[in-house]
Amino acid sequence: MTTSIRQAVPRDGEAIAALWHRGWRDGHLGHVPAALLPHRQAADFRARVPAQIPFTAVAAAGAEVIGFVTVRGDEVEQLYVAAPARGTGTAAALLSHGERVVAATHGRAWLAVAGGNARARRFYERRGWSDAGPVDYAAATAGGEAVLVPCRRYEKAVARVALIDGRAS
Ligand SMILES: CC(C)(COP(=O)(O)OP(=O)(O)OC[C@H]1O[C@@H](n2cnc3c(N)ncnc32)[C@H](O)[C@@H]1OP(=O)(O)O)[C@@H](O)C(=O)NCCC(=O)NCCS
Repeated sequence: MTTSIRQAVPRDGEAIAALWHRGWRDGHLGHVPAALLPHRQAADFRARVPAQIPFTAVAAAGAEVIGFVTVRGDEVEQLYVAAPARGTGTAAALLSHGERVVAATHGRAWLAVAGGNARARRFYERRGWSDAGPVDYAAATAGGEAVLVPCRRYEKAVARVALIDGRAS
């Protein structure tokens, strides 16, 4: 089935929250402070999704959401792909989309990745991203207090492009 990338809409919320919750566990358990775990339950992701929708694009295979990317400013803030869709190029398509969104307003994109998330780091490096050093990322919690997570900052120069209706012109 063909996978398409499109702007997220509110009815995608449940699927995004479920993907985010499962993928977060896959990429982060064992690599983040234990203090963050109580703030990363299914309900926490459901609560965070509505505010993310305007900044999020999804990968859809037919009616099924199989991945998403969230971009805020020059940061590729979230990138998650369902386990069965990993290794298929879906993540690369989402990341390319995210890079194009950043490129509409900035010349350089960045993201934070947990140091121990080896699969994600390998993936970013294969897509031309460089490790720019350590960063303590302030992970948001529902209570408003952030938990500092030791991460690596990755960066990539992105070509400036005009975006029309979310597409590169
Ligand atoms: C990170 C993610 C989006 C990458 O997408 P993907 O489809 O899995 O990526 P790919 O399979 O194209 O690339 C992964 C690379 O890591 C390699 N890899 C797989 N498992 C690995 C591991 N345990 N350690 C190191 N490298 C690993 C793969 O072989 C591949 O490298 P290659 O292209 O040289 O063969 C996806 O794995 C995901 O959603 N993970 C869970 C959520 C997450 O961690 N998101 C990122 C938060 S910053």
